[in-house]
Amino acid sequence: MKALVLHGIKEPLKLEEVSKPTLNAGEVLVKIKAAAFNRRDYWIQQGKYAGLKFPITLGSDGCGVIAEVFDDANQHWIGKEVVINPSFNWGDAPNYQGKDFKILGLPDDGTFAAYVKVPVAQVYEKPKYLNYIEAAAFPLAGLTAYRALFTKAQLQKDEKVLLVGIGGGAATFALLWAIHAGAEVYVTSGSDDKIAKAITLGAKGGINYKSESYDTDLQALAADGFDVIIDSAIGEGFAKHLNHVKPGARLVFFGATAGDLPPLNARIIFWKQLQIMGTTMGTAQEFEDMLQFMTKHEIKPVVESVFACEDAEQAIRLMDQSDQFGKIVITFND
Ligand SMILES: NC(=O)c1ccc[n+]([C@@H]2O[C@H](COP(=O)([O-])OP(=O)(O)OC[C@H]3O[C@@H](n4cnc5c(N)ncnc54)[C@H](OP(=O)(O)O)[C@@H]3O)[C@@H](O)[C@H]2O)c1
Repeated sequence: MKALVLHGIKEPLKLEEVSKPTLNAGEVLVKIKAAAFNRRDYWIQQGKYAGLKFPITLGSDGCGVIAEVFDDANQHWIGKEVVINPSFNWGDAPNYQGKDFKILGLPDDGTFAAYVKVPVAQVYEKPKYLNYIEAAAFPLAGLTAYRALFTKAQLQKDEKVLLVGIGGGAATFALLWAIHAGAEVYVTSGSDDKIAKAITLGAKGGINYKSESYDTDLQALAADGFDVIIDSAIGEGFAKHLNHVKPGARLVFFGATAGDLPPLNARIIFWKQLQIMGTTMGTAQEFEDMLQFMTKHEIKPVVESVFACEDAEQAIRLMDQSDQFGKIVITFND
């Protein structure tokens, strides 16, 4: 079968013939129709991710059709259109992942292949209102944003939300989820064009974090303050955001694209009773809840571009400059 194999740090993604996975008990084989990139795939290619091993087939997000099952009890899955939850072995504690937790696409071979094997518990029927490309785009980033907004920040209707770096894949899902939850959403971006796109999706406004007047612009946007900030860029900007939140605000992050936490004003944090929370991926329950939420509102992921699997290296290079708005998807044909 065809698979996109990464042989080492900063090597290109190479489309190669590899052997089809053999199933073990409890596993199913998914014939991949479409798969999507996450920043994680990029960090792994750049050598900036824990637990690197080569060769590896990357890819956490995928959508396809069940081609084989190991157990007779799973026969009913054959031919079903499915999406894969890439959050494996969460464990028993909803508050944090256990020691066996892993994400599809390292250490196990992932979705950038004609076929991927996964435990049956990781597959869910594809929402019917989505095509393969849209359905491949949401699992990892959508789940991360869902847990950040609803489980961690406990977002309520009419609350005021700031999403930092809206060009990020997960931030785009946070935008869609928060708008459909009835929140008032504002964004930041290094690109005016991305702010305009966010506004067409329902954001109330946005400002450019590269602007010299960022701080005063943010004050004008915040007015009496944000209730929730989702900021996975972190870096220097994070300290400024503390000045523009309401008492009791919740600040959640799941990445640090622009660098580590800067020194923070502890007095603001304790006086305003702020909660600063880290989060990662999500539980199986959250994945199900997200599917229900998006299906109820028929929310479609924002897809920036679609490439054939032969052009996957060209696709991942789009992430060098973070020019994308929404997800980059690759397709696998028969
Ligand atoms: N822990 C988890 O489970 C988990 C899950 C998903 C992602 N992540 C992490 O979360 C981060 C975002 O992931 P992603 O896949 O959504 O990202 P992505 O698509 O790679 O987006 C990165 C975005 O960060 C924004 N950014 C860069 N520098 C910034 C700065 N100085 N200030 C504000 N924003 C800045 C940019 O937004 P603009 O283009 O709008 O300027 C850029 O588009 C990454 O670090 C990723 O590794 C973690």
